[in-house]
Amino acid sequence: NGVITIDPGYKNTGSCESAITFLDGEKGILRYRGYAIEELAEKADFLEVAYALIFGDLPNKEQLAKFHADIREHSLVDDDVRKILEAFPKNAHPMGVLSSLTSALTAFNPVSVNIESREDMYKAIVRIMGKFPVLVGWTMRKSKGMHLNYGKKSLGYVENIMYLMFKQPNEDFKMNPIIKNALDKLLILHADHEQNCSTSTVRIVGSSHAGLFASLSAGISALWGPLHGGANQAVLEMLEAIKADGGDTKKYMAKAKDKNDPFRLMGFGHRVYKNFDPRAKIIKSAADEVLNDLGVDDPILDIARSLEQEALNDPYFVDRKLYPNVDFYSGIIYRAMGIPVEMFTVMFALGRLPGWIAQWKEMRLKKEPIGRPRQVYTGANERPFVECENR
Ligand code: CMC
Repeated sequence: NGVITIDPGYKNTGSCESAITFLDGEKGILRYRGYAIEELAEKADFLEVAYALIFGDLPNKEQLAKFHADIREHSLVDDDVRKILEAFPKNAHPMGVLSSLTSALTAFNPVSVNIESREDMYKAIVRIMGKFPVLVGWTMRKSKGMHLNYGKKSLGYVENIMYLMFKQPNEDFKMNPIIKNALDKLLILHADHEQNCSTSTVRIVGSSHAGLFASLSAGISALWGPLHGGANQAVLEMLEAIKADGGDTKKYMAKAKDKNDPFRLMGFGHRVYKNFDPRAKIIKSAADEVLNDLGVDDPILDIARSLEQEALNDPYFVDRKLYPNVDFYSGIIYRAMGIPVEMFTVMFALGRLPGWIAQWKEMRLKKEPIGRPRQVYTGANERPFVECENR
């Protein structure tokens, strides 16, 4: 009818119907394809969850084995991509490098661009599931000046990620089961979250029929920001800063509440969860478990616990329904695993990959129209052009 309603940040605007992830922000419920997040985090491994998100149901043994075999078969990354990687400065942020390399993969995998059938779609999906961990490993190794590693086909999907990041080619590798379990959990908890900023980006870029890898590259860029996936890095930097400042959490609580101070308590608040973030609950106990099992005594955990307690009892946070989110404790676990802080958001991207793929696939199969929001124009009325020398 020509009337345009403005909804900044799309706080009350639905962009699609989706059968992938159910989220009730008031009750703190999150389910992928109907499976409760608590159960998946406890019992499933990441590849099973990726399969369920992308194809609709948890796989049986044969389906899982075939999916993994297809991923393995396509995990090699063209050597020319190394040359692109080499051209980045060593201190480039890994998220920028990852986004660029994901986009660059398009050139070597034209099937990811012209998706004409379900087979094309499947080919593009297993290729990116196979190559993405390699890019993640390379991105980290580049920033540390380490030799690149191509992965090991005999390893499980999650083991291979750690191998790609930390091991020398052909080095024997048996992953510590505590770390394997924690990494599975973290990746599962990050795997999808319905129409968040990066997923909406993937869907909207994909809606123009740009290919899968280009859409994912845009999603990685969206995830990078500190209000979204970049919060996990920001949380750890914040906790470090508080520690270096003598551990005075009250001072930082006051800063977070001061409207003239841009500081926010990172890892707190969520657009949709207004009661608690069910992912944060699981991660908090996982952090306790992992640090305990690994015998790590991290003073930063005490600072995080104090901040949480103070915020949960502070009217500013209570009135605004601000609770710890998924990113508040995840960095503490990543750090205990030896993952460098600038890689935290990359780990989030690794987890979110199947969710982005599932959402992109759903959007394409449903033949959704190109995403194209409207606006209300508030600029100048028509005015005459004035030659440059007369301005
Ligand atoms: N610290 C202090 N005040 C806050 C915070 C915070 N972390 N989060 C929100 N507020 C205040 C905000 O100033 C506003 O106050 P007022 O009503 O007086 O103006 C009120 O709470 C509502 O905030 P909002 O910014 O309008 O809420 P939003 O839904 O637009 O933003 C958010 C959600 C997650 C971006 C925001 O809470 C935030 O910036 N949190 C810190 C960053 C963070 O942890 N992000 C990770 C999100 S979870 C992982 C993911 O899925 O990306």
